[in-house]
Amino acid sequence: MGSAPRSCRLTSVAARKRTITYAAQAPDPNKSSQMLVIVPPHVLVKHNLAIARNKDTPSGAFRAAIGELGKILIYEAVRDWLPTVDLQIETPVGVADATVVDPTKPVALVPILRAGLVPLEQASSVIPVSITYHVGYVRDEETLEASLYLNKLPPSFTPEDQIIVSDPMLATGGTMIACLKDLVSRGASVQNIRVISIVAAPPALTKLGDEFPGLKVYTAMIDPELNDVGYIIPGLGDAGDRAFGTV
Ligand code: URA
Repeated sequence: MGSAPRSCRLTSVAARKRTITYAAQAPDPNKSSQMLVIVPPHVLVKHNLAIARNKDTPSGAFRAAIGELGKILIYEAVRDWLPTVDLQIETPVGVADATVVDPTKPVALVPILRAGLVPLEQASSVIPVSITYHVGYVRDEETLEASLYLNKLPPSFTPEDQIIVSDPMLATGGTMIACLKDLVSRGASVQNIRVISIVAAPPALTKLGDEFPGLKVYTAMIDPELNDVGYIIPGLGDAGDRAFGTV
C-alpha cells in the first residue's frame, strides 16, 4: 500500500475468492474493468469522518460533516470524468482559452433515501448541471433485505449517461445492488456509474465487485466488519437517524 500515489489511493476489489487488493500504481478510473474503491487521503476527510463517528455529535453537526464529506468525494468522483467544452472567453483585458463543463450533459444524481440525501446536499455547488432522481429503499431489520418504496428514475438511460449514486453506509450491499441493477436494467452502463459512500464494509464491497466490474466507489473509509444486525463496526451508527434527528 505504501507505493500508492499521494493524490489518490485506489483499492481494487477483485472478483469472487479474491480479497481486496491495493493497486501499487493507481489505475485510470475511466479505463479500469475491475471495481475500484477510492479513499481520498485528505485531512478534511479524516476530520469530518471523526466528527461523524463521534456518538456525541449533535444531529446538525453530523449532517454538516456528512455533507462536507460528500462534497469532497464528489470532487474526486468527477475529477477527469465530466465532459467539457473548450472555448475562448473575454476577460476585462484580453481573450483567454478556457474549458467549461458541458452544460448540455447533466449528471444524474441518485440519492437512496433517506440517508443518501445527505452526502449529495452540496452536490449542486460542485456539479454545474445535474438532475436528481430519488429512490427509496427500506431494509427489513430481520432479513436485512432491501425493498423499494419510492422510484423516481426515468424510464430509460443511455450508456453515456453519467450517474452518481449515494448511500452513506455500504454494509451488506443489498440496497446498493438492488439500485444498481435497476439503473442497468434501464440502460445505464456500469462504467458510467460512480457510488458515493461514507463508510464501506467488506461484505458490500465484495458483492459489488462481483456483480459490477468497472464500478467506481468513492468512500471516506473502509471499516472491517458488520455486527449481527448488519451495522458497520465501528461505523457511525444509523446514518439516517443521526442526520435527521430521529434517533
Ligand atoms: N445503515 C446505517 O445507517 N448504518 C450502518 O452501520 C449500516 C447500515
